[in-house]
Amino acid sequence: MSTTVATEARTPPRIRLAAAEDAAVVLAIRDEAIRSSSGLWIDEVPDPEASRSWFEAQLEAGSMLVAEDPGPSAAVLGYASFSPLRDYAGYRFTGEDSVYLLPEAQGRGVGTALMEALVTHAREHGMHSLVALVESGNTGSIRLHERCGFREVGRMPEAGFKFGTWWDLVTLQRLL
Ligand SMILES: CC(C)(COP(=O)(O)OP(=O)(O)OC[C@H]1O[C@@H](n2cnc3c(N)ncnc32)[C@H](O)[C@@H]1OP(=O)(O)O)[C@@H](O)C(=O)NCCC(=O)NCCS
Repeated sequence: MSTTVATEARTPPRIRLAAAEDAAVVLAIRDEAIRSSSGLWIDEVPDPEASRSWFEAQLEAGSMLVAEDPGPSAAVLGYASFSPLRDYAGYRFTGEDSVYLLPEAQGRGVGTALMEALVTHAREHGMHSLVALVESGNTGSIRLHERCGFREVGRMPEAGFKFGTWWDLVTLQRLL
């Protein structure tokens, strides 16, 4: 998969709604982010049943997009989704976004294409704003969001704890 991705660098990806057959790659990307990054403050990779329910909830909500390689492989390169910022009814028009790519797909515009599509998709869903909660050292994600019209609206020191250390949180928002 990585070879195909590398040779087709810079061609804009195709963006589409996630479908059931994307489960394996989406969950592999998410599991790896949980295992090795400060992006998702979850300590343990969830068991397969919990992962499956998380993915199915995204499909049911119609709130997940995937980017696929524009070449013949049509390999999935990453996903973006939104879910209510909190479970309380008053937050139903405020979505928290999530965007994760395979390592070999990063740094060539795929995240920007996904986030621009997610903004349109969330607006069409009737959302009023999107919010990103980003670890403060994740300059790639902060830059991506700023490039897509998000503005920093807050910083919270030591909001997260993972890998035995504290992490600061940056909040960015885009009104839709
Ligand atoms: C964050 C992520 C989604 C960005 O997507 P991407 O396709 O790599 O980003 P793009 O190529 O569209 O670039 C968008 C901007 O971010 C910048 N950028 C991307 N990766 C970067 C990095 N590692 N460090 C600094 N800037 C970076 C680009 O230069 C570009 O900025 P510019 O407009 O000033 O040139 C992607 O790198 C990723 O999946 N990272 C790991 C998972 C993650 O951190 N997800 C977000 C959790 S909040």
